[in-house]
Amino acid sequence: MNSPILPVGDRSRISFRKGIVGLLLFMLAVLVLLPQGSWAAPPQPEKAVRGPCVRDPEWMRRNHMDFLKHKREATVREGKFVKAESFLACADCHQSRERFCDRCHAYVAVAPNCFECHQYPK
Ligand code: HEC
Ligand code: HEC
Ligand code: HEC
Repeated sequence: MNSPILPVGDRSRISFRKGIVGLLLFMLAVLVLLPQGSWAAPPQPEKAVRGPCVRDPEWMRRNHMDFLKHKREATVREGKFVKAESFLACADCHQSRERFCDRCHAYVAVAPNCFECHQYPK
């Protein structure tokens, strides 16, 4: 009845519990120690210095490439130039190519060649 030695069943339950706790701690440690980015954390483009964007930001996120290319066609082929929506105007609000454009582009591994010709602040 009051034997100092635990019945076998209880003992194994204790070590099972310890095992679970150990495993949880290990998993927690892995989570904490994993380098930033290995979770494929979404890119964090720098906030614009002011707004609003020339189009709805949600729309812009998906369509800025077509928007820019369309603008190029309009300017170069048809001679329409809207200064407020020109390429360089983006930089009034999105002031750094590295901290804005490149953060997303690195994430999706695209490297538009626009900056070879177009000035955009680093
Ligand atoms: C008057 C300021 C302004 C101008 C000019 C502007 N934007 Fe924006 N843009 C914003 C704001 C404000 C947002 C919302 C997100 C934020 O606060 O940074 C935004 C959002 C965006 C987003 C989505 C970013 C995200 O975090 O998902 C893209 C892409 C974008 N703009 C591209 C452009 C491009 C390309 C141009 C030039 C044709 C441009 N913007 C011109 C202010 C501007
Ligand atoms: C080989 C050089 C070159 C490359 C590369 C290039 N452009 Fe251009 N782009 C020009 C020239 C030249 C003009 C006409 C002169 C001007 O308006 O600056 C122009 C005009 C534009 C315009 C209209 C004018 C303005 O400032 O808004 C846009 C928009 C544009 N390009 C977007 C792009 C985008 C987006 C890319 C990358 C996908 C790109 N360009 C790549 C040379 C280039
Ligand atoms: C919120 C994230 C985000 C930001 C900020 C952003 N881009 Fe992009 N951009 C993308 C994604 C995603 C793609 C690829 C889309 C695809 O492959 O269909 C892309 C593609 C492009 C393309 C077409 C590339 C190609 O090879 O066809 C151009 C041009 C471009 N971006 C210009 C810009 C410029 C200029 C800026 C800064 C003013 C900018 N982007 C900021 C996410 C972003």
